[in-house]
Amino acid sequence: MPTTDVPYHRASIGAEEISEVVEVLKSGWLTTGPRVQEFERAFAEYVGCKHAIAVSSCTAALQLSLDAIGLEPQDEVLVPTYTFAATAEVVTYFGATPVLCDSVSGGFNIDTLDVERRITPRTRAIIPVHIAGHPCDLNAIHRLGDHHRLHVIEDAAHALPAVYHARRIGGISELTAFSFYATKTITTGEGGMLTTENDDFAVRARTMRLHGIKGDAWKRYSKSGSWYYEVIAAGYKANMTDIQAAIGQVQLKKSDEMCKRRTQIAQRYMDAFGALDELELPPLSRETVDSWHLFILRLKPERLDIERNDFIEEMKRRGIGTSVHFIPLHLQPFYAIRYGYRRGDFPYAEDAYSRCLSLPIFPDMTEAQIDTVIKVVQAIVMEHTRAGIAA
Ligand SMILES: Cc1ncc(COP(=O)(O)O)c(C=O)c1O
Repeated sequence: MPTTDVPYHRASIGAEEISEVVEVLKSGWLTTGPRVQEFERAFAEYVGCKHAIAVSSCTAALQLSLDAIGLEPQDEVLVPTYTFAATAEVVTYFGATPVLCDSVSGGFNIDTLDVERRITPRTRAIIPVHIAGHPCDLNAIHRLGDHHRLHVIEDAAHALPAVYHARRIGGISELTAFSFYATKTITTGEGGMLTTENDDFAVRARTMRLHGIKGDAWKRYSKSGSWYYEVIAAGYKANMTDIQAAIGQVQLKKSDEMCKRRTQIAQRYMDAFGALDELELPPLSRETVDSWHLFILRLKPERLDIERNDFIEEMKRRGIGTSVHFIPLHLQPFYAIRYGYRRGDFPYAEDAYSRCLSLPIFPDMTEAQIDTVIKVVQAIVMEHTRAGIAA
């Protein structure tokens, strides 16, 4: 059995990111400044959107999106239960109610039919999440949004650079939120980007990301800036720094190359596991190009006598880092207690959660590391195939 340890993730940070950060540190301008503006312009061009607004996190980008649409306490927002905490918690910041929806059968993304069932006169928006970087059925979601006059805010934390019907995610919906968290497809340590086609939303988000100060608040300590500032709303502290933007600029240039490598790794996994009846591969679609932020494998319990948690322990024992994306929100104490959700409420999401584990998929993985992951998964499957079912 191979012994090389494989971490779950390692960010691809090279000499260029390091030297760009040093440049910023030497420049004397550490917070929001020219590097943020350059990063925003490059990002807008890359995804094909009108406005890109750099912020401190994807969570902040989602919060600014809900602020831009004017979310109010009586409102409801439809979000998948199968997502990270951030997608729904932002709705509660406004005193509004996140309404959870199930996943599609056989997949992880939000089910549009379930979304439709949960629309009420109080519904204001839908936040679809492109789980693992596999784009949601945006045409169906937009049809629903148009018909019921709902805003569509994409949580694209996983989806740079993903493509839906030949268009990059980020230039399709009214508002899209990206994450540059440490494990994401490009990283600035912590950070995010809000993209929008709407000029008013862009002005509002730029103002609100820095204390609700009108105009280019970040310039007030620069030579061309002025000491005078006007607070026109109670804003947030959600700006990105030039240090982060400098890393982001380099990462963005490498985005296509890193995605190509993740796609190769995903293909190696699919080639290796496709023939195993004990495993279920991630969903694919002809209309999308995935960013492969995650590779989520699902076990078939009817064919294996090992459960997901023990499978993960076995992987760990043999030196392979894994993770679980995600524990559905309705199973979390806060959502269960506050909104009364119960186990059994979202059967497809629960089924996916109970059987899933995410394998390492990062651009700097070596061929030997990929081989190791494949061999370990195959070995555990072989040791635990249910007697009588193996071919
Ligand atoms: C689906 C999803 N949405 C939002 C976020 C929040 O991103 P950030 O940490 O940049 O706020 C994450 C982070 O893991 C995520 O997975």
